[in-house]
Amino acid sequence: MSKTIKKVGVMTSGGDSPGMNAAIRSVVRTCAYHKIECLGIYRGYEGMIEGDFIELDARSVKGIINKGGTILKSARSKDFRTKEGRAKAHEQLQKAGIEALVIVGGDGSFTGAMIFNEEYNFPVMGIPGTIDNDIVGTTHTLGYDTALNTVVEAIDKIRDTASSHNRLFFVEVMGRDVGHIALNAGVGAGAEEILIPEENLGLDRLLESLRRSKQSGKSSSIVVVAEGDKIGKNVFQLKDYVEENMEEYEVRVSVLGHMQRGGSPSCFDRVLASRMGVRAVEGLLKGESNYMVGLKNDIIDVTPFAQAVKGKTQINKELMRVSDIMTV
Ligand code: F6P
Repeated sequence: MSKTIKKVGVMTSGGDSPGMNAAIRSVVRTCAYHKIECLGIYRGYEGMIEGDFIELDARSVKGIINKGGTILKSARSKDFRTKEGRAKAHEQLQKAGIEALVIVGGDGSFTGAMIFNEEYNFPVMGIPGTIDNDIVGTTHTLGYDTALNTVVEAIDKIRDTASSHNRLFFVEVMGRDVGHIALNAGVGAGAEEILIPEENLGLDRLLESLRRSKQSGKSSSIVVVAEGDKIGKNVFQLKDYVEENMEEYEVRVSVLGHMQRGGSPSCFDRVLASRMGVRAVEGLLKGESNYMVGLKNDIIDVTPFAQAVKGKTQINKELMRVSDIMTV
């Protein structure tokens, strides 16, 4: 393994996700294993511009593999979008002797990394960290599995009260532009209907499906709605619409919100983070740059940033069909 890099910077950027700490731990320990230094960068690109760095060694990341959030904090930086901001960031990295970067974040963070790489030819590798699972080049982003389990647990609880009162619940889950959480957690929690941005089934179809549910003897129902759904109404408007059109239903709304981003990472996310961290650092040491590490058919592989940020993930059609069959 060629080893010209002596110091790596690691940071978390964009919306946080469970597993980010496990990724930081993995990057730091892989650096220690290869006897190179590692600096943590606080608050993503914001901290990079300000030179807010901390030395990290193998022991300083003890006890964090099981922790949600990120010990390095996270932020979205407006300044890094400017040439001046990136120049300051580059100056700070040089001052601290950082020669390569591992960035844990989403597509916005990778777009920033790509521009930075173009301008300064700075070696950088990415680890996809977002609960939305909306990045091309990996079947799973860090935190997605944990978020699914959190959502399923929450819906199970909502179902208890829904069935006690014979109510219909609209449960809004995260997914600004994509329906991966809604579809997978919806199937996992046995939702009667799942509304996702990728497929606008229309309001008539929703009413028809709810009527069918009632007729088939169901006394309560759960409809999972992705926050970016394109049906034209938000969850509260959907509640009003259904109550106006179907007197037989008493409807309630539950918006799960940011609790979906917190919590101790699942075993899957911890293992994935550990694997991705090793691959990212060893990629840098091999001279790779401008790639995102991802999971493909259970193999850790890399995808150029340009592909990862431009592509659009596809919704699992087979799972949509499974959902339809399950709600017969
Ligand atoms: O992490 C991704 C995401 O959860 C989206 O689904 C959601 O729209 C967004 O973050 C909200 O993030 P914030 O409140 O940090 O802007």
